[in-house]
Amino acid sequence: MSIASQELEQTVAELTASGRGILAADESTGTIEKRFKQINVASTEESRRDYREILFSTPGLGECISGVILFEETLKQNNAAGVPLLQLLTAQGIVPGIKVDGGLVPLAGFSGEKITQGLDGLPQRLAEYRRMGARFAKWRAVIAIDAGIPTPQAISANAHLLARYAAICQELGLVPIVEPEVLMDGDHTLATCARVTENVLHAVFHALHQQRVRLECLLLKPNMVVPGSACPEQATPQQIAQATLNCLRRTVPAAVPGINFLSGGQSDTAATANLNAINLAAQPWSLSFSYGRALQAPVLQAWRGESANKVSAQQALYRRARLNSLACRGRYTADMEIESTPA
Ligand code: 13P
Repeated sequence: MSIASQELEQTVAELTASGRGILAADESTGTIEKRFKQINVASTEESRRDYREILFSTPGLGECISGVILFEETLKQNNAAGVPLLQLLTAQGIVPGIKVDGGLVPLAGFSGEKITQGLDGLPQRLAEYRRMGARFAKWRAVIAIDAGIPTPQAISANAHLLARYAAICQELGLVPIVEPEVLMDGDHTLATCARVTENVLHAVFHALHQQRVRLECLLLKPNMVVPGSACPEQATPQQIAQATLNCLRRTVPAAVPGINFLSGGQSDTAATANLNAINLAAQPWSLSFSYGRALQAPVLQAWRGESANKVSAQQALYRRARLNSLACRGRYTADMEIESTPA
């Protein structure tokens, strides 16, 4: 086996360690600005660094978090004492990863649909990220549901790019996280989300096969199958778990070692309850989380840009990570949300 293969397998083993999940802290500069605005904090290089330092130095984080996805700026940042932020993660046994896509642009010819850019120059960028210590990568494709969309063309164009990205990552020794996100925006039903997600995952795994990507050395980051956020008929965690598992069983080969869901706009508590329901039945894959908003929303509320709030912000992150870790084992219950209950 080549050195690159051994490294990929080692990284997968660490990322899928039982009861741990991934923290997505890879908000682009535009997205973190939006999140900071909600708590009246100006987004500057320094405020972003301070916030992420709080996240990564949370005591005990490595018990529940196996990997953190970083934005390029963070990978290159040191804290005020000159310690690389990446070292705060490795010191806790957490694997650093990096968002490598270049964001979304309109898909020419297809009104309302998007394509992800960033394949040009990707091998060179990946080689540099790897030198700096990143061991896995993330590429997000987005599929919207609306009248007449998604089109098969948008699905296949996005699937093809995800597969090309994954092949390049594996060649350069980084584990690809393949993220085809079917958005929650809209009033579509659970059944519509199920149908679209099944089509998307089917196309993605077909493309991965065609591009000779090793399924054993990647992680899938899908949406859960949920009704649109404006759908009048919402669903229980049991219904969401059933629909999500049906969809995954039909489309995701058992060779894939891990599936780490995105939260996609679910509340922090809903994302945990749904993950727990999904983990109540035995499955061929490790089923965990790779949450951004559902882990960080309570942290931002506790922090509010004040260094004096560091400890409570870290407690909020540890608590959410711990509850999701329990949900990975099907051991979470809603009464754990009561603040006085130790997570
Ligand atoms: P959310 O969990 O906030 O959807 O973010 C996950 C992510 O990494 C999106 O690319």
